[in-house]
Amino acid sequence: MERVDTAADATMRPMRAEDVDAVIGIENRQFTSPWDASTFLDLIDRPSAELWVAEHPEAGVIAYAVLWCIVDQGELANVAVRPEYAGLGYARRLLDGMFVLAKGRGIETVFLEVRSSNARATELYRSFGFTDVGRRKNYYEKPREDAVVMRLTL
Ligand SMILES: CC(C)(COP(=O)(O)OP(=O)(O)OC[C@H]1O[C@@H](n2cnc3c(N)ncnc32)[C@H](O)[C@@H]1OP(=O)(O)O)[C@@H](O)C(=O)NCCC(=O)NCCS
Repeated sequence: MERVDTAADATMRPMRAEDVDAVIGIENRQFTSPWDASTFLDLIDRPSAELWVAEHPEAGVIAYAVLWCIVDQGELANVAVRPEYAGLGYARRLLDGMFVLAKGRGIETVFLEVRSSNARATELYRSFGFTDVGRRKNYYEKPREDAVVMRLTL
């Protein structure tokens, strides 16, 4: 497979129906309880959801993120990167773009939940300024685990 060195060449754009196969390919590899294709397809048409992908000109869709937007609050509902491209800045670039977009939509606060063992994602969120605001006991399954709730003021 084509390998890229950084996320600098990637394009950030809204997810389209034809991206969903590639997105599901990543989703199934990265999560033990993955969303299915119909979930992504339904959300693409919803004005209250922002679904974006990072696309490399040769390698295709590398990463995606989903943000719910409800009045002045956002919820980062999903973010994942194709495993071979981890650590190259894709998530950072994608989330940078999502938060600018969210601010433009009038979002003032973004919440998210993350597995308590997910150090990589937690580190990423902290680097954006997210702080811990709570814990949901046994929120996740496969394996059962607490969620840490994090909040960012934009
Ligand atoms: C978490 C995830 C989205 C990060 O994507 P990524 O493209 O690898 O992240 P980036 O390269 O943009 O790195 C951004 C930051 O993440 C953190 N990070 C990345 N790799 C890390 C590692 N191995 N260990 C600790 N922190 C790490 C760092 O803060 C990094 O910033 P820096 O490079 O400036 O130091 C990706 O690993 C993934 O898809 N994981 C599986 C799905 C998942 O857990 N999603 C989140 C659900 S809440």
